[in-house]
Amino acid sequence: MQQEHIAVEMLGITKRFPGIVANDSISFKVGKGEIHALLGENGAGKSTLMNILFGLYQPDEGEIRINGRSVQIADPKTAIELGIGMIHQHFMLVESYTVVQNIILGTEPKKGLSIDYSRAEHKVRELSERYGLQVEPGQLIGDISVGMQQRVEILKTLYRGADILIFDEPTAVLTPQEIQDLMAIMKNMVNEGKTIILITHKLKEIMAVCDGVTIIRRGKVIDSVSVRETSPDELASKMVGRQVSFAVDKKEANPQEAILKLHRVTALDNRGIPALKQLSLELRRGEILGIAGVEGNGQRELIEVLTGLRRVQSGEIRLHGKPVHNATPRQIAESRVGYIPEDRQKRGLVLDFTVSENSVLKSYYFPDFRRHTFLDYDKMSRHANRLIREFDIRTPSEHTPARALSGGNQQKIIIAREVDGDPDVLIATQPTRGLDVGAIEFIHKKLVEQRDKGKAVLLYSLELDEIMNLSDRIAVMYEGTIVGIVDPRTTDEQQIGLMMSGSAVRQGEEST
Ligand SMILES: Nc1ncnc2c1ncn2[C@@H]1O[C@H](COP(=O)(O)OP(=O)(O)O)[C@@H](O)[C@H]1O
Ligand SMILES: [Mg+2]
Repeated sequence: MQQEHIAVEMLGITKRFPGIVANDSISFKVGKGEIHALLGENGAGKSTLMNILFGLYQPDEGEIRINGRSVQIADPKTAIELGIGMIHQHFMLVESYTVVQNIILGTEPKKGLSIDYSRAEHKVRELSERYGLQVEPGQLIGDISVGMQQRVEILKTLYRGADILIFDEPTAVLTPQEIQDLMAIMKNMVNEGKTIILITHKLKEIMAVCDGVTIIRRGKVIDSVSVRETSPDELASKMVGRQVSFAVDKKEANPQEAILKLHRVTALDNRGIPALKQLSLELRRGEILGIAGVEGNGQRELIEVLTGLRRVQSGEIRLHGKPVHNATPRQIAESRVGYIPEDRQKRGLVLDFTVSENSVLKSYYFPDFRRHTFLDYDKMSRHANRLIREFDIRTPSEHTPARALSGGNQQKIIIAREVDGDPDVLIATQPTRGLDVGAIEFIHKKLVEQRDKGKAVLLYSLELDEIMNLSDRIAVMYEGTIVGIVDPRTTDEQQIGLMMSGSAVRQGEEST
């Protein structure tokens, strides 16, 4: 790369935090008009490096060059003046403000003494159109989807004149459709001369839109390669430091009797509109049944009626022949149903509790962990340490609060707790969302292990790849019913995609 074509160059950047070198002499460069990926597992040091580029942290050593000029980036204000913008993982928007109000916050254009909203709105509209963002400037942030909120963050950086945009794991919060849209928007931006640094651990995204990729592992650069000259397999092994398999390694399933049966179940959504319509389904021991569908077709309500979080209007759910519809979540958990919830931070864990406390969150009222009326902390510690070993939970100790762990390790606590309760039925909802390859591989292995122990596993995921790879049968949901049940070995994504959109129906094996 010729010097004048380089937008960003970081040279020998080192950043130490107490007990860890988050960035260890990192050097890499990004060409102008390029989409460059920073690839690495959770905790590799990607966000730290980009927080340095955006002036949020100061490096202990190293040099930064922007458009060939050596610069000191003391704070985000300096970064913005240098044409750098950052779209963070967690948005910093005011819910009760409109799109425009959020975008101009802190840089309000004045007309006399008052704020010139119409000028701002005009500019926002123009930017939105140029990059295909389709943002409506007058809407309240609280009223728009997460995907749209992210676009407001993008507009905010463009409004401030950013030429270099940093995206920190932007697709973790998006649906597959929204991810495709974002990729198109990124392409528009580079076509207009912008430079993008994309932090991700998703290889598919890198292969789809990036030009170059720098792989970081444990704070060090492992390699910088051109996307044209690499493959997902190569990237994965560089990221993780060993060979990884995408194909889930599993034997033929040995399904047995159905233990969970839904018969003509009807339920309403939060707005009182039917979300499940006469839905019938059976889950057998020794199988992984995948639930596929476009988000919003009743999958969430299905999981909620199964876990006691939503009432059934009519129909019945039987577990081991016993009716459990409208039982409480605790009654259901006590009927040997394990549940890996979709929102691990809100529903799966108490973030301020320790790993040890979280690992007994559901069983603390059992006699095992009680000494008279008190909790038996020694016993809890021993229990937690066993789970930490068996489930490879990377934590400084069992006394560390869950909040301090990476997403993958937080998820391992939940899985350890739910699987260790020895459930007959395991309900896993989006179990690997936002996790890195290593953690995904581990969790997939655990789910297959449960299946092979004769448990009935229900898997809900929006990642069709994951459903295809793991499931023994796939039930496709559309508008509140199961439109068909297919065998992943004899069907393809195309066929399932058609069923998901309601335009093809395949007769299921269970015609109840
Ligand atoms: N403000 C901080 N204080 C202490 N340690 C931190 C801080 N920020 C990040 N770390 C640590 O630095 C390492 C790299 O973190 P991070 O840059 O967030 O990784 P990534 O974005 O690749 O997941 C991790 O071990 C993390 O715990
Ligand atoms: Mg990060």
